[in-house]
Amino acid sequence: MKNFQSQLAIMLLSIGGVVHAADPVITTKAADGKTIFQTVCAQCHGTAGEGKVELKSPSIAGMPSWYVTTQFANLREGRRGHDATDPQSFMMAAVAKALQPEQIKAVVAHVEKMPMQVPMGKDRAIANANAQDGMRLFQERCMECHRYNASGEMAFGSPPLIGRQSWYLEEQLKKFKSGKRGAIKNDVNGAKMVQITNFFVEDEQMLRDVVAYIMTLNPDPAASPEEQKRQIIEGSPFESAGR
Ligand code: HEC
Ligand code: HEC
Repeated sequence: MKNFQSQLAIMLLSIGGVVHAADPVITTKAADGKTIFQTVCAQCHGTAGEGKVELKSPSIAGMPSWYVTTQFANLREGRRGHDATDPQSFMMAAVAKALQPEQIKAVVAHVEKMPMQVPMGKDRAIANANAQDGMRLFQERCMECHRYNASGEMAFGSPPLIGRQSWYLEEQLKKFKSGKRGAIKNDVNGAKMVQITNFFVEDEQMLRDVVAYIMTLNPDPAASPEEQKRQIIEGSPFESAGR
């Protein structure tokens, strides 16, 4: 494990990350979700689960447990993070494999309870994009699974897209399109996105546009949690950035 951790540290540094711990802790003996989160996850996902652009790690605070559970299973069973040319998910797979099933259950429950972090500044901006054009694509091709407000739908296995950073959404769409994510046999949910991105997200412009539109569905970060909930359902007055 020691050796593997050093390898991981080298990988973290080589993707240009400013890393907190030179030797990231990828496992712990702790049993409660909060401690596991603070010891293992926070190094890469931040103490509030807000994610870090330097590591390309997503904001995960408030993610529904059904989705996180599926992703951990995918990562542990080689459906995601199997490809060393995709260092982010490869790294995340190492973490998923180092934890015990009971610890995963505990940390997943903790993540779901953390307040969603609304992306701001560089996590929200997206250059040369037209959210209006993105809206059309979203309504025609995305909303049937991710819902009109991008808050996800358990019945379809489609996660919420609000709360995630613009660069992360962009990156994942590219991973699906290139088959780095979703192309392994038995990844039924990932396969849906491989199809969608290949058939309907024709070029980088469309990809940026749809991400720009998704960003506008985020609630006002300054609003109270109750008000944010209302805005997610009824629409947010929060101005779109990066246009
Ligand atoms: C060494 C850094 C690192 C550590 C430690 C780490 N993660 Fe990650 N995690 C990442 C990166 C980078 C990604 C993005 C993977 C990708 O691009 O596919 C990720 C992705 C994820 C995802 C997928 C999110 C999505 O939208 O599909 C979840 C869920 C997640 N991490 C949860 C956790 C939890 C819970 C912990 C603690 C037990 C943890 N991570 C620890 C780096 C890390
Ligand atoms: C047929 C249903 C379906 C449609 C239509 C669909 N998605 Fe998805 N999407 C999913 C599912 C299911 C997942 C989860 C995949 C997994 O489990 O790895 C997903 C995952 C994603 C992710 C990864 C999120 C994360 O946190 O890692 C992004 C980004 C995404 N979809 C964007 C879109 C966009 C943009 C469109 C429209 C162009 C779209 N989706 C259309 C079902 C769909």
